[in-house]
Amino acid sequence: MQSAVDDRDQWPLGTFVDAVETSLRDFVATQQATVDSVGPVYTDAVAELTSFVFRGGKRIRPAFAWTGFLGAGGDPHAAGADAVLDVCSALEFVQACALVHDDIIDASSTRRGFPTVHVTFAERHRTAGWRGNSDKFGESVAILLGDIALCWADDLVRAAALDSATSARLAPVWSAMRTEVLGGQLLDIAVEASGDDSVEAALQIDRYKTAAYTVERPLLIGGTLAGAGPELLEVYSTFGADIGIAFQLRDDLLGVFGDPSVTGKPSGDDLREGKRTVLLAAALDAADERDPATAAALRAGIGTDLSEAAVDDLRAQMIDLGAVDDVERRITTLTDSALAALNASDVTEDAKRRLTAMAYTATRRTS
Ligand code: IPE
Ligand code: IPE
Ligand code: MG
Ligand code: MG
Repeated sequence: MQSAVDDRDQWPLGTFVDAVETSLRDFVATQQATVDSVGPVYTDAVAELTSFVFRGGKRIRPAFAWTGFLGAGGDPHAAGADAVLDVCSALEFVQACALVHDDIIDASSTRRGFPTVHVTFAERHRTAGWRGNSDKFGESVAILLGDIALCWADDLVRAAALDSATSARLAPVWSAMRTEVLGGQLLDIAVEASGDDSVEAALQIDRYKTAAYTVERPLLIGGTLAGAGPELLEVYSTFGADIGIAFQLRDDLLGVFGDPSVTGKPSGDDLREGKRTVLLAAALDAADERDPATAAALRAGIGTDLSEAAVDDLRAQMIDLGAVDDVERRITTLTDSALAALNASDVTEDAKRRLTAMAYTATRRTS
């Protein structure tokens, strides 16, 4: 599906992102007639999903998968490389599903700088003066659009025309990735509901809701497509779990302290929602030890409809309690252990260089 490009093994990120988006657009075009045949309401709704997919996003999952492929000696110029690029691109449909559904689950109002999909359709329902509950309508549409995105991820992998041996190797890795991310999301809401505020529970959530589908499985997918052996896959797994958790820890910091005009998503919502993040767990641990009154106030405030001023107070407390430093230290430790595993392996020098750069991009980001 992609045109031949000479320097595929040295693609700068922007060029890679363009190639991913071309793959996604080509795939969407193959679905358009079926979508249109259902009727204009469906055409409009799917257009909203595709705008969401093309509205940006860091494309970090396809980038890790492509890097995993190159690092395992995959030939970016070989005849089968277009199919590999399609599989990498399909991860963005998995991501679209994960985000659209996550925003319903987390009651988030913005994503990638725009109203979330469920909010957009609730608003349309309201403006049109349609019958029934607008918020419920918005969520229902977003559930369906998230489902379409996940189906399209699988369809794009199938359409990628991998040879049958490669396809058989990929299947269990792809399937485990989907199962893990859904499990992680379930853990996330169950731990939030039960109020378990241990660091261990938060780390377990991060491992599955984020690390698995963001770094570890994409690397394994790329490696598997290139026919990597068990030693390299083991290194990818260790590196991917560590960097993936660190990626989520950074996300937790950005979720409380980030600039919404840069992250494209609200700041402070994790506190209002009562998300059991490592950041919160570290703050509660420190407060339990030092100052039970602060601990009680934190527990009472988290998960309520906090004003901006109350969120600011909680931000200050998290800093004072050393929770921000604690999370920063964890990010550094995880990055160091991932890089140590990488450097101790016999991954090619080129792959080490790429993965090191990506480890920093993923964990030091501001968006
Ligand atoms: C957001 O992922 C969800 C998490 C797992 C933290 P990204 O930060 O990769 O979001 P986009 O795709 O760039 O918008
Ligand atoms: C990240 O969830 C995991 C998935 C989307 C599967 P979060 O709820 O922590 O991520 P953001 O902060 O909304 O992007
Ligand atoms: Mg969430
Ligand atoms: Mg969320």
